[in-house]
Amino acid sequence: MTKIFTAPAGLEGVVVAETAISDIDGENGRLRYRGVAIQEIVERFPRWEDLLPWLVAGPSWTYGPLCPRFSAVGLNQSVAPMVRLIQIILATHEQWTHQQEELEWLAGLPAALVSQDPRSYSSVAAAYLTGLRDGSAVSSLEEKALNAYWVMAAEHGLNASTFAVRVAASTATTLPLALAAGVATLAGPLHGGAPEGVLALLDESESVDNLESWFEEKVKRGERLMGFGHRVYQTRDPRAEALSKVYRQLAAENATAQRAAQVEHAALTVLGKLKPHRSLATNVEFYAAVVLRALGIPPEWCPATFACARLAGYTAHYYEQREYGKLIRPLSIYRSRSTIDLTNS
Ligand code: ACO
Repeated sequence: MTKIFTAPAGLEGVVVAETAISDIDGENGRLRYRGVAIQEIVERFPRWEDLLPWLVAGPSWTYGPLCPRFSAVGLNQSVAPMVRLIQIILATHEQWTHQQEELEWLAGLPAALVSQDPRSYSSVAAAYLTGLRDGSAVSSLEEKALNAYWVMAAEHGLNASTFAVRVAASTATTLPLALAAGVATLAGPLHGGAPEGVLALLDESESVDNLESWFEEKVKRGERLMGFGHRVYQTRDPRAEALSKVYRQLAAENATAQRAAQVEHAALTVLGKLKPHRSLATNVEFYAAVVLRALGIPPEWCPATFACARLAGYTAHYYEQREYGKLIRPLSIYRSRSTIDLTNS
C-alpha cells in the first residue's frame, strides 16, 4: 500500500524531481547549466536561440542548426503580452511536430509576439527589439544585451512555473500545451522575475541629488532596497555577475544605465555601512531591470520578455520529465463541514 504523508505548505523543502539541467548552489554563489558555469554560458552562447538545443538535449543534440519558424498570428492587442504569448502558442501548436520543428517554433515565439519574422534578422533578440520599438534601429550592443539577459534567465531550477510544465509533461501532453501552462503560471504576480520593484526605486531616485543620504534614511526607516540581497545566493548572485558585464558596457553609452550605476554605487555604500553584518550585493533583478529599461522595453512588456527567456528552461524540463517522469498525482485531504443531505432541504 502507498505510504501517505502530508507535505508542507507550498511544498517547501520537498524534492519532487531529479534533474541534469541546472544546478543552483546558493551557498557558494554558483549556477550551472548542464555542468557549465553561467558566466561561461553567457560567453559561449551569444544568441538565446543557440542555447535552446544545447539546454534541451545537452552535447548529444544531433539535429542541425535551428531556423526559427514564424507564422503571422492575428493577436488581440488589447490583452497583456503574457496572454498574447499563450495565444501564439495555441494558434500554432498543431504545427509543432517532431523535436527539431518544436524547437524551431519555440525559437520563433519572441519574434512572433511582436509580429516580426525572425528570419529577416541576425537574431531573435534583434527581431524582438525591433518589433517592440516600432522598427527603430537596434545596435549590436543592444542585441548582445538582450541575448545575455535571455541566456542568463533561461533556466533556474524548479520554480512554480517550471513545476507546472513538469506536471503537464507528466500527463504526456504536447510541448506547446505544457509551455502554455508554464507561461500561465508565470503570469501570477507572486512568481518573481518581474523587475517592477527596482524600476520603482530607479524612478523614485531620479530627482534625488544626494543618493547616499536618501538611501541612509530609507534603510534607517527599515525599508528594503529593491535589487540588493538574495535569499538563495548568500555570497554573490552568479546571474548578476553574468549580466553585469553587458550592463557596464551599456552604462558607457546609455544615460539610463549610467544613472543606474550611480544609484547602485550609493546603495552598496550605504548597505555596507549600515548592514556590515550581512553581505548584501546587487542581485540579478537590479541588472535585469536596468538592462530592460536601457533597451527601451516598456514595463508592461517585462514579464513577457522574461517569459521568452524561460521558455528554453521549460522545454528542457518538459523533455526531461517525459523521459524519466511518472504521472504527478498528489492527494488532498477533505477538510470541510460534515456530510450534508440535500434530499430534505
Ligand atoms: N535592503 C536593506 N536591508 C536589507 C536588504 C535590502 N535589500 N536585504 C536584507 N537586508 C537586511 C535586513 O534588514 C536585515 O537586517 P538586520 O539584520 O539589521 O535586521 C538583514 O539584511 C538580513 O535580512 P533577511 O531578511 O534575513 O535576509 P534574507 O537573505 O532572508 O533576505 C531578500 C533576502 C528577501 C531577497 C532581501 O535581501 C530583500 O528584501 N531584498 C530586496 C528585494 C529584492 O531585491 N528581491 C529580489 C531578490 S532576487 C530574486 O528573487 C531573483
